[in-house]
Amino acid sequence: MKKRLLIKNIKLLVQVQRGIKPKLLGKAMEDIQCIENAFLLTEGDTIADFGEMKNLSKLAYTEGVMEIDATGKMVFPSFCDSHTHLVYAGSREIEYGDKIKGLSYEEIAKRGGGILNSAALLNETSEEELYKQSFARLEEIISQGTGAVEIKSGYGLNLEGELKMLRVIKRLKENSPLIIKATFLAAHAVPVEYKNRQNQYVDYVIDTILPTVAKENLADYIDVFCDKGFFTVEETRKILVAGKKFGLYPKIHANELGFSGGVQVATENNARSADHLEYVSEAEISAFKNSQTMPTILPGAAFFLNLPYSPARKMIDAGLPVAIASDFNPGSSPSGNMKLMLSLATVNHKMTPQEAIAAATINSAYAMGVSHIAGSITKEKKANFFITKKIPTLEYFSYAYGSNLIDTIVLNGELIQPI
Ligand code: NIG
Ligand code: FE
Repeated sequence: MKKRLLIKNIKLLVQVQRGIKPKLLGKAMEDIQCIENAFLLTEGDTIADFGEMKNLSKLAYTEGVMEIDATGKMVFPSFCDSHTHLVYAGSREIEYGDKIKGLSYEEIAKRGGGILNSAALLNETSEEELYKQSFARLEEIISQGTGAVEIKSGYGLNLEGELKMLRVIKRLKENSPLIIKATFLAAHAVPVEYKNRQNQYVDYVIDTILPTVAKENLADYIDVFCDKGFFTVEETRKILVAGKKFGLYPKIHANELGFSGGVQVATENNARSADHLEYVSEAEISAFKNSQTMPTILPGAAFFLNLPYSPARKMIDAGLPVAIASDFNPGSSPSGNMKLMLSLATVNHKMTPQEAIAAATINSAYAMGVSHIAGSITKEKKANFFITKKIPTLEYFSYAYGSNLIDTIVLNGELIQPI
């Protein structure tokens, strides 16, 4: 008999959906559905039932069920973090010091620091060591409420290094309870060997690395850092078109450092998402409006690099969906804590707590192509959720920005022991 868990007396069951809605747009983000005094039942690794306590027929559920009493506590679907770089070697707190002293992200990159620093270290690190470091980060984000995560390559910047990263992601997929998607991002920076020969690096990515990655079936998506000082719109288009021939759909870095044209090249290529979006005007909003591409903001990166805040409020008011992700990486966002991202999204990007929850669950699930199995409390979706500590209101969750309010974690219908 399949294992069953029954969570009873839930003060508020958050972000329920009956039937599959792959994303929430505009005003609907504020209206996330919740049930007061609720129950939730899992069977095997999926959600079997949920509803009001008064509709819980005791007899139907008593046999072989493990019960958890959630009086005073809330249940949220696990966060979906649709943009991370959590496979990396070491850390870069040296640059953190430089930034405090006034150097910008671009200045650090120009003098060979930034992504190139992580690339040098990654290429010296064994696959085993990289796996160990990355697995520890996965355990950390699990304890912070994440149930699905997208992870990018992009610190190899050569065939061997990129394959090493993607093989580590593959092993993480096999050995962790999280839903994981892999994104190929060799066009993250131009490696030292190709300095002043950027076009040749683009050809190397397209002709040499991409076909090997595709042949080994190591990636779900393709990404390019389309921004000032990194890759141009033309180079981005060339790489995305090549990726699509191998069945890799784009999810790209766009408009972090300026009006790069990244949003337009993303929507034109039917990207799943375009991410960062510190620079968004009417032209970008209208490109998104006519597309299926999910605008994704990364509040941790904007906070940590002191960038202008992406106008999430404006995008939602224009009727667009918005997703939130952590961008967990050693340079611009050394944290994968999605609860903290909710707080930053509310305070800095002027989203309401409800909108932020929609953005970090169903919309971020869409942004990584998993909204049919994750991102809401829905029958038949994966039983990935967490139970909070006792909290007074829904708003309290992102308001108490430094408190760990996550009490119990369930992934695939299994209780996860805290690390
Ligand atoms: O999303 N913007 C480009 N890439 C990453 C940063 C990577 C790094 O600095 O190591 C980002 O912010
Ligand atoms: Fe990123």
